[in-house]
Parts: sequence; structure tokens; C-alpha cells
Amino acid sequence: MSHILITAGPTREPIDPVRFLSNRSTGRMGFAIAQAAAEAGHTVTLIAGPVELPTPPNVRRVDVVTARDMLAAVQRELVQADVLIASAAVADWRPETCSSTKLKKSGMNGVLRLVPNPDILKTIRPQKGNRRFIGFAAETGEPTAEAGRKLREKGLDLIVANDVTAPGAGFAVETNRVTLLYPDGRREALPLLSKLDLARRLIALLPAL
Ligand code: C5P
Repeated sequence: MSHILITAGPTREPIDPVRFLSNRSTGRMGFAIAQAAAEAGHTVTLIAGPVELPTPPNVRRVDVVTARDMLAAVQRELVQADVLIASAAVADWRPETCSSTKLKKSGMNGVLRLVPNPDILKTIRPQKGNRRFIGFAAETGEPTAEAGRKLREKGLDLIVANDVTAPGAGFAVETNRVTLLYPDGRREALPLLSKLDLARRLIALLPAL
């Protein structure tokens, strides 16, 4: 049995105490993976951005808000893990500054300066060792070229690519249609599956990675 670390959901990047930048991720895919991993008897740690989902049974959950919080949690929890499954939709950019008081309409000039967030997978790549890393690539349109680039750039053992605009795929639906890409160039297009069935397939693949 493995110790599986999973990231899920969006991150939220504050602008001021009442405003933030985020994305449409609901966390369903990552929570389904956590459920499937726990059902298979693995030890599971789930690092979750702000989502509205109950924690699956027998899963240890760590809640985070920003990309930088998520990176710190992954760095801390990775030490114990054999497998990392990064399904979180991490915000690529954050506001350069966060105001401690609500910004006033009259004080805003229509410009929000952004700075890039760290890429979690790239940052922790030196700590990979014998661990297996699985990533996700959510694209609009045919996803495999971009996913193949991310697989190599992030040093992954598997990437799960999907077109979030395809029917039954993407955010806030219970199903997903994905293509699996491996470092040796193998590809496997899976049929439309419930997110839980897809999660079970991914967990069943682990021993072969
Ligand atoms: O955002 P991108 O398409 O590059 O994300 C692909 C993979 O990289 C996903 O597995 C995601 O969780 C991960 N990622 C990350 N840190 C980021 C952005 C994405 O680890 N800042």
C-alpha cells in the first residue's frame, strides 16, 4: 500500500479582504481520486483549495487557500508520500499586493498588477526521488500536444489530459473524458467515465507506473 498525496480544487488569490482571483475548479476530480485511493486501502492526504465538498472517509484533509499555501503544504506532506497526484487548478497569477482594507472604487484605476505564482510540480521536482508524480492538463480544444509538453517540462510519470469544453468533461460535471499520456510516448484515450470510475482506473494504474 502507498501513501498518496493529492491536490484538488482551485486556489484563491486575494486582492483585498473581500475580493479574489480564482477559477472554476470544483475539486470533484481530486476528491474522487482521494475516495478511490482510500477505498483501495492506501493512506491518503488530500490538500484542498477552497471547495464545497465533504471529505471522503479515511482521508486526511489539509485545507489551503493560495497557491503559495498549497506549495508549502505539498513540500511538507511530500516527505511521507510515495505518489503525488496533482489535480488542483492552481492559479497561475496572483495580485502583486493584497490590500489589508477593502479597495475603494474611487481609489482604483482599472489596473490590477499580477505576478506569477510558483509552479508546484516544477518547484518540488528536485525532491521527487523514487516517487511517482501524476499531473493533469485541462485545455480548451485538442489537449494532447500541450499535455505532452507539460509531461516533459514537469518531469511526470503520467499526465491526464482533457478538453474541458468537450461534452461531459471539465468543471462542475460528474463525468470526464480523458487521454492518458506516458513519458515513453504511449497514449490511451479512455471513454466517457464518471469521475469516480476514472479515479478508480488511475489508482489501479499506479503499480504499473
Ligand atoms: O496549469 P498547468 O496546465 O500547467 O497545470 C498542469 C499541472 O500542473 C496540473 O497537474 C497542476 O496541478 C499542476 N500545477 C502546479 N502548479 C501550478 C500550476 C499547475 O503544480 N502553479
